[in-house]
Amino acid sequence: MRLEHIHFKFIGKHTFARIMHHSHSLIPTSGDPMAFEAFWRKLGDKCTIVISGSDLMSYLSDMGNVCWFLVPELAEAINNLHHVVDNAVSDGRHIVIGTGSTQLYQAALYALSSPGGPEPISVVSAAPYYSQYPAETDYLRSGLYKWDGDANTFDKNNGAYIEVVNSPNNPDGTIREAVLAKVNRSAEGKLIHDLAYYWPQYTPITGAADHDIMLFTLSKCTGHAGSRIGWALVKDTEVARKMTRFIELGSIGVSKESQLRAAKILGIVSDDYPNFFEYGRRLMSERWNMLRQVIRQSGVFGLPEYPLEYCNFTGKFTNSHPGFAWLESKEDEDCEKLLRAERIMARGGRRFGADAKYARVSMLSREEIFNIFLERLSAIQGGSISNGKHLGS
Ligand SMILES: Cc1ncc(COP(=O)(O)O)c(C=O)c1O
Repeated sequence: MRLEHIHFKFIGKHTFARIMHHSHSLIPTSGDPMAFEAFWRKLGDKCTIVISGSDLMSYLSDMGNVCWFLVPELAEAINNLHHVVDNAVSDGRHIVIGTGSTQLYQAALYALSSPGGPEPISVVSAAPYYSQYPAETDYLRSGLYKWDGDANTFDKNNGAYIEVVNSPNNPDGTIREAVLAKVNRSAEGKLIHDLAYYWPQYTPITGAADHDIMLFTLSKCTGHAGSRIGWALVKDTEVARKMTRFIELGSIGVSKESQLRAAKILGIVSDDYPNFFEYGRRLMSERWNMLRQVIRQSGVFGLPEYPLEYCNFTGKFTNSHPGFAWLESKEDEDCEKLLRAERIMARGGRRFGADAKYARVSMLSREEIFNIFLERLSAIQGGSISNGKHLGS
């Protein structure tokens, strides 16, 4: 039996099992980015890499580089991709690699706050903010930094701070700039730009971002969350050195197998452009059209509108099609509960520092999950759920 035949059977069986499983249970709408799986499956062996038993045994990669565990093939692939998409300035920047951008977020906090003063530095982000920032910041109760909530309500007289700017923003897809720096360009304020979703399938590319620390991740760029590869583009050598040191102390580097796989995948994305991004953009646009249609018909929810902007990458005017939909209950009901009553598991607004009338659902799930989600969403009609259950119970 041919390899792809076995592969097809394997996928088929599991897809079927998943559909059966989800037909009765709550469907998850977390951020697992499986939407692009079909694209990569179609490429078959084009992305396969072979690693023999004697390969990649050393801790070390490139001792001439600040980030000494960064595999040169991946550094080159990252640079090429940013040149092709032109979404960020990578020339003259240090690349620091991490086990997902989650690890790099922590590395950046460490780099910007050490050696530390008498009080931990406040870490803030404008609400609604990515729901993991508070927990990731505070779970080790660092003496260097602490989560201080919404940047909009932060009192700058409190002293030093780190503002995390997530653009396009998870959960609401808005394009953002630093809030605090705009009000008062304080020498004590430092910035981390989390640009996980600044790719053409999600949003028009309006210029090459050029910030002190910019975080990217394979998981949102191509969908390969399981490889756990993120990268930071860092202007300042000392900051890059400290971020590298943080990763060295935590895990003595980042898996070389993952780095080589990421290099291969990013290479394909750059060489075959705009294929992957064009596919992703069309898919996201179709999903958003379907969602907006269901939302219009139900009359229960509101959704953010995004401006039409010129995308330098596609050469067209396009809207954003974010990886998440930020639903608002028009009747100010608890949106998470509303969805749960129809067996849709969403993340409630409070987790993002916002009101409970909001909830976040993923637009990046596998097709069968997304379809079940739309079907269930369409059953929620103004005032009550169509099958007779009352809302807010
Ligand atoms: C805004 C944002 N930043 C960072 C991450 C974490 O990405 P990674 O998979 O690279 O750890 C996510 C994942 O959902 C995210 O949405």
